[in-house]
Amino acid sequence: MNMVPAGLPRSGSLSSETLLKAEDVKVHFPVTSGFFKKTVKHIRAVDGISLSIRPGETLSIVGESGCGKTTLGQALVRVIEPTGGRILYSQGGQEVDLAHLSPAEMRPYRSDIRMIFQDPFASLNARRRVIDIVGEPLRNFGMTDKAEVEATVADLLRRVGLRPEYMSRYPYAFSGGERQRIGIARALSVRPKLVVADECVSALDVSIQAQTLNLLQDLQEEFDLTYVFISHDLGVVEYISDRVAVMYAGRVVELASVETLFSRPRHPYTAALLASVPRPDPRLARSEKRMRLKGEVADPANRPGGCAFHPRCPFATDECRAVDPVLRAIDDSEVACHHAEKLDLKGVRENAA
Ligand SMILES: Nc1ncnc2c1ncn2[C@@H]1O[C@H](COP(=O)(O)OP(=O)(O)O)[C@@H](O)[C@H]1O
Ligand code: SF4
Ligand SMILES: [Mg+2]
Repeated sequence: MNMVPAGLPRSGSLSSETLLKAEDVKVHFPVTSGFFKKTVKHIRAVDGISLSIRPGETLSIVGESGCGKTTLGQALVRVIEPTGGRILYSQGGQEVDLAHLSPAEMRPYRSDIRMIFQDPFASLNARRRVIDIVGEPLRNFGMTDKAEVEATVADLLRRVGLRPEYMSRYPYAFSGGERQRIGIARALSVRPKLVVADECVSALDVSIQAQTLNLLQDLQEEFDLTYVFISHDLGVVEYISDRVAVMYAGRVVELASVETLFSRPRHPYTAALLASVPRPDPRLARSEKRMRLKGEVADPANRPGGCAFHPRCPFATDECRAVDPVLRAIDDSEVACHHAEKLDLKGVRENAA
């Protein structure tokens, strides 16, 4: 499926190139109370994330529900305005900070950066026909000729593996997988460069998941796309990613190529997530005592002191309870754990390339 070794950008671009760069991005939601709606605390959904997205790659973002993945994705596409930080978008050698642009200033970038949503049925208005759903972004970005819109929608439907005649139908006439293809056609209609897909296969059956992931990979080649692929399921992420960022309590706790992450995890949270991925190879499934995740995911309104993962971590020490670890480079991974060098955590692949 993946013709280029994982970890390398597929478009042949230099790894130092960056399409979108998040710098210390924060999204804090105020929690209010009482008649005067006084802010009593903040939900720190995204709490200081820095990462670079390379042209042509698939960067996946994983973590349990509530870790802040959706909020980060929405900040990257500027559906929500971050509380702090910068979102630098490179275009023709120029960099623009999208973080605090007004809707009017943001408009020229809206066609470059698109989102595909979790639930295809909820994201497609059931009372509108496929032609209207897929054609709407085209009209919004200036395609006024009806015949041109129709021809473009027909072409898009073909490319996502649907018959062009389907354009006059309503969403309820389609299966979950077909509806997700319609959502993909809509996202691609205005020829974006970056697509943020949020749990876009999570609601589908396993076989339909695989077909949809294959389609996304084919479209990536065909349209020269860069993906940010958000999923709570590391198993899904393995086959589509070049690199993986693991999030916990609004932060990135580990970032590595998919090969390195799966064979040599360095953060205990990553190792625990990997342990819950079903493996076809029974030797790997049985080998060693693999970590299990205990306890509840950290509350972003009440972040544990020190390392936010310490209440669930079997390796936690006094240092972990007192000092918040920063993300730092160890070999070819980035890890936020005080003891990362000393831990010999088990992956689910034999070894790194
Ligand atoms: N609009 C919002 N207002 C208040 N809290 C929110 C909002 N959106 C998300 N949250 C909270 O932020 C945290 C992260 O949520 P989310 O980004 O949806 O995580 P994930 O996608 O990883 O499940 C959760 O505690 C969630 O309840
Ligand atoms: S810093 Fe400490 S508590 Fe946090 S993941 Fe590492 S060992 Fe566990
Ligand atoms: Mg989510």
